[in-house]
Amino acid sequence: NKKAFIFDLDGVIVDTARYHYLAWQKIAQELNIDFTLEHNELLKGVSRVRSLDIILELGKVEASQEDKNRWLIQKNEEYLSYLVDMDQSEILPGVIAMLTFLKEKNQPIALGSASKNARPILEKTGIMQYFDVIVDGNDVTNAKPDPEVFLIAAKLLGAKPEDAIVFEDSVAGVQAANIGNMTSIGIGEETTLYEAKYIYPDFTHIDMSFIEGLINK
Ligand code: G6P
Ligand code: MG
Repeated sequence: NKKAFIFDLDGVIVDTARYHYLAWQKIAQELNIDFTLEHNELLKGVSRVRSLDIILELGKVEASQEDKNRWLIQKNEEYLSYLVDMDQSEILPGVIAMLTFLKEKNQPIALGSASKNARPILEKTGIMQYFDVIVDGNDVTNAKPDPEVFLIAAKLLGAKPEDAIVFEDSVAGVQAANIGNMTSIGIGEETTLYEAKYIYPDFTHIDMSFIEGLINK
């Protein structure tokens, strides 16, 4: 059986969720906006533009488009500064084993990310070759929880949505997979990702026999 396995990037494959948070925090601090780790959950999986709007809403700050554009550039420059030295060591535990297993089982693999920085990250970490298809923030118009990014990925892999399995660390991403009629696997905490069909703290906790079961379903 052939399914379609779709991986989110930030917080699933690499621990960049932390860098996004640090970069946004710097902007929030400058604007005197209280921005906590809990608030950060709202930004996971969400586009850069929408993330800024959420932060400004939190602080009840109204800003001109000019200011917003400046902060968006500033945030991305700050974020990119964390990526300069990125290498394979930043890949999260169990990810390579999962990708390798899926390849052995001849399963199509896609990346489905809201990030416009996805390709350089895959290159720096040396895992580009695992992905048959890459759909990122440059390819979509509707941000998660809209399922567009995953629907495009499944289509490019030649799979029906119901045959797609999505790994996600964000609430918006889990919702996108569910809305798209796909199997959602949350990577993270149950208290946050309870809407996912299955939840695991990380890839090392996923049994390959479970994946095999999904493949043969
Ligand atoms: C991912 C992350 C978000 C981030 C978004 C855009 O979905 O989870 O936190 O804001 O991508 O990333 P970018 O690299 O384009 O700013
Ligand atoms: Mg993510």
